[in-house]
Amino acid sequence: MLTQRQPWWQKGVIYQIYPRSFMDSNADGIGDLQGILQKLDYLNDGTPDSLGVDVIWISPFYPSPMADFGYDVADYCDVDPLFGDLAIFDRLVEESHRRGIKIIIDYVPNHTSDRHPWFQESRASRSSPKRDWYLWRDARPDGSMPNNWGSVFGGPAWTWDEGSGQFYFHQFLKEQPELNWRNPEVRAAMQDVLHFWLRRGVDGFRMDVVAFLIKDAELRDNPPNLNAPPSLHPGDLFGRQLHHYNEDQDEVQELIREFRRVLDQYEDRCAIGELFYELPRWVRYYGENGNGLHLPFNFRLLHTPWQADAIRQSVDELEAVLPPFGWPNYVLGNHDQPRLASRIGSAQARVAAMLLLTLRGTPTLYYGDELGMVNGVIPPDLVQDPQGLRLGAERTRDVARTPMLWTAGVQAGFTTGDPWLPVAADYTTNNATVQSQDPRSMLSLVRKLLWLRQRSPALLEGTYRSLPSGSEACFAYLRSHPSGDYAVALNFSAQEQHIALPAAAKGHVILSTHLDREEELSGKDLLLRANEGLLIKVR
Ligand code: NOJ
Ligand code: CA
Repeated sequence: MLTQRQPWWQKGVIYQIYPRSFMDSNADGIGDLQGILQKLDYLNDGTPDSLGVDVIWISPFYPSPMADFGYDVADYCDVDPLFGDLAIFDRLVEESHRRGIKIIIDYVPNHTSDRHPWFQESRASRSSPKRDWYLWRDARPDGSMPNNWGSVFGGPAWTWDEGSGQFYFHQFLKEQPELNWRNPEVRAAMQDVLHFWLRRGVDGFRMDVVAFLIKDAELRDNPPNLNAPPSLHPGDLFGRQLHHYNEDQDEVQELIREFRRVLDQYEDRCAIGELFYELPRWVRYYGENGNGLHLPFNFRLLHTPWQADAIRQSVDELEAVLPPFGWPNYVLGNHDQPRLASRIGSAQARVAAMLLLTLRGTPTLYYGDELGMVNGVIPPDLVQDPQGLRLGAERTRDVARTPMLWTAGVQAGFTTGDPWLPVAADYTTNNATVQSQDPRSMLSLVRKLLWLRQRSPALLEGTYRSLPSGSEACFAYLRSHPSGDYAVALNFSAQEQHIALPAAAKGHVILSTHLDREEELSGKDLLLRANEGLLIKVR
């Protein structure tokens, strides 16, 4: 049990807003900061009739040519006019704080836009004072690229610059040149960016591909990945390599400690990092003694087969590897992944919501997942995502970026203009307003789970222990706290399951994912209906 007051980033539920797709306030078809302001009451008005999230993470809203929809930043210290301006941002921080909502923003330190003045200056000539701010290399004697590394979006990670006669490095688009984090001036300039936003009152940062910042000093060739699936797109060089040298280098830990030192100059701020490694390497990002990231994102549940045993194993392994200062976290959806409800089905999405919101650790909820939104249908000529355009329509991330469904009105109430991506076809019957009025909807379930979670010390800070359930299709666990325990039993199958949970024998079902069941348990076996999860207050 924690002895100190639990910090907000452990208690809170993070809600990720992809700003282009959340709410458009000015009819240009693109969501904006003013739109988020208008929807704060939906997120949390302090009553059980709102969602009840208390942290929002807003994906990039900085000035950008939008080659990668904002992950190509041309100015780290401003707001793109598409999204608003600094005054609106300040108002958003103020209004959110007034409601007890913390604000996390995206920090994109690995690469800038090729339109960033730093890169323009760097590429101007080999003797530019900013030349070394990016990774420039000569061609090899035979004219070929400096090494064999690939770009995540397909093709090689090097682009030839005719004007200055060298290659520059980018692991995403060629419009996203990578900063040289071995250069102290780059470090200082990028720390200033953190100060700029910390002073404006932001509560934390989600750090984009943070383990990419340092590459092998000698830029050695990566070995081939002999297990790469044969179905990979021919252009996917990145997918065909083992990433021994281009990411997760030991020296990146020092940079993360530096970020922490900056954040720790302010009160109560939080560092979240985007990284993907196996547990032994991933866990290092908490730092020694907790001087690293507060929350290295845990994406394992996104890639674990949706089966009770596999999920239990993933959670147990995570719990086992965490140092005493390491706080868990779970992600089930984001702007880079297909929608959860499409991956596991709408019935299991409700079970997933109970899992996410009752495990020990900070949950991140992706906008629209509280409605069970499914993958958008994007006609080939409307594909926007550079990954989809380069690696094939089946890789497009547009499917998870379609407009939020607010009402049965025009364009689901998202815009009165032409939305940048199509609105889901079923929006007249499936939207936040309709679901608000339906006591059994997915939205009602998520609201209820949040409301219970925020008021239950066992769910917020209790210990976690998985329980034998006697059924392969079920995952059960206990959250224990001196104030009282909760048991959770989740049926991952579409068949009913009889299970026996010693801990639950004397208890009370306080919530079913079907939202139709509250009952005293008689001490006998527990029946879980198809696709049902139960939250049980143990006596
Ligand atoms: C990870 C972000 O989540 C993704 O959307 C982006 O394309 C890459 N990083 C590059 O910034
Ligand atoms: Ca707009």
